[in-house]
Amino acid sequence: MAEAATKPKADVDFNHIRKQFPVLTQQVNGQTLVYLDNAASSQMPARVADRIHAYHRNEHANVHRGIHTLSQKATDAYELTREKVQKFINAKHKDEIIYTTGTTDSINLVANSFSDRFIDEGDEILLSEIEHHANIVPWQMIAERKGANIRVIPVDDNGDIIWNRFVELLNDNTAILAVGHVSNALGTVHPIKKMITEAHKRSIPVLVDGAQAVPHAPVDVQDLNADFYAFSAHKMCGPTGFGILYGKKKYLDEMPPYRGGGDMIDKVSFEETTYNITPHKFEAGTPPIAAGIGLGETISFLNEIGMENIALYEQKLLDYGTEQLQSIDGIRIIGTAKEKASVLSFVHDDIHATDIGTILDQQGIAIRTGHHCAQPTMRRFNVSATARASLSFYNNEEDIDRFTEGIRKAISIFE
Ligand code: ALA
Repeated sequence: MAEAATKPKADVDFNHIRKQFPVLTQQVNGQTLVYLDNAASSQMPARVADRIHAYHRNEHANVHRGIHTLSQKATDAYELTREKVQKFINAKHKDEIIYTTGTTDSINLVANSFSDRFIDEGDEILLSEIEHHANIVPWQMIAERKGANIRVIPVDDNGDIIWNRFVELLNDNTAILAVGHVSNALGTVHPIKKMITEAHKRSIPVLVDGAQAVPHAPVDVQDLNADFYAFSAHKMCGPTGFGILYGKKKYLDEMPPYRGGGDMIDKVSFEETTYNITPHKFEAGTPPIAAGIGLGETISFLNEIGMENIALYEQKLLDYGTEQLQSIDGIRIIGTAKEKASVLSFVHDDIHATDIGTILDQQGIAIRTGHHCAQPTMRRFNVSATARASLSFYNNEEDIDRFTEGIRKAISIFE
């Protein structure tokens, strides 16, 4: 049985939880690792790695194909993840959960398949100014192919969308609104439920890129009323190469397959091929089975902690990190939205982000520097790059202290 949706629990011992991540005990450049690059990819608890290992050692066979026992066991384990995901994000139907290779793949699937059926010449695709490239480029490719136009919702100097401009941009030509739930470069939490409600007033469907949201707070796709919701396993302590596309059945049933191959068909002849039902019609070929089973174990792990608890803990850590970072002379935080999640993006008046990142790495502290696959966001804030610390629930105040001490050291080197 898949677990019920996560509930708030008191007294979560996050120090004990941290101990379940063996990678965090290692020495990097002579010091204990401080891992603050969770928006790029998060670490995996031992039990998820063990589950994947056990599958490879004892349970491996192809799924959906064999009548033999091993294949059926692999299929059951793999399909159990679909039930767990359904409950985790509170989708109405299990067959609204499509397995993909990650958020990028999920968005490409919608861009290609949805547009085939629902986007015409002259239509508009509405994005926000602070999207990840994965939620820009697939739409540009479709716009070019279909003769559609990209429209962009601007953000203010804090990184919040400008609401009036958003409402003005919605019109009868808007074929879809595609927007990130949480910005990977700034940490802005978009008012996604309100945006969806506004778009739906004009019957405009909404795709949400949830890659940076699902790891950090409870997500309920029915409450949001999202039409599509995409996320990746590897940013939520699961394996790489696996992700989810949630889609409302009313759209998925109308959308043509995206890739052809085994498993996605009903009958094949050289004259005519008919397709499997949703979700299988979108899942051609042998999938990353071990990763799918790994995501199931990850969800069990997260449910035991409780996503509400994770959100509360990370918010406190973000507040502490913001305060500490602001106390350093010459540092400017990029992204000061009203509601933020887990990201501290910043620049220094005189030191390039890459130099800060390199000096932190020498002290065993991992952050990301650069444009974070969000070049338009960098342009909006007139910077070529930022340094970015991104938090997870296994980080703590000591990590933040090492990080800010590390920045002070970098500054002293350049003085
Ligand atoms: N999207 C990932 C990041 O923000 C790779 O770092």
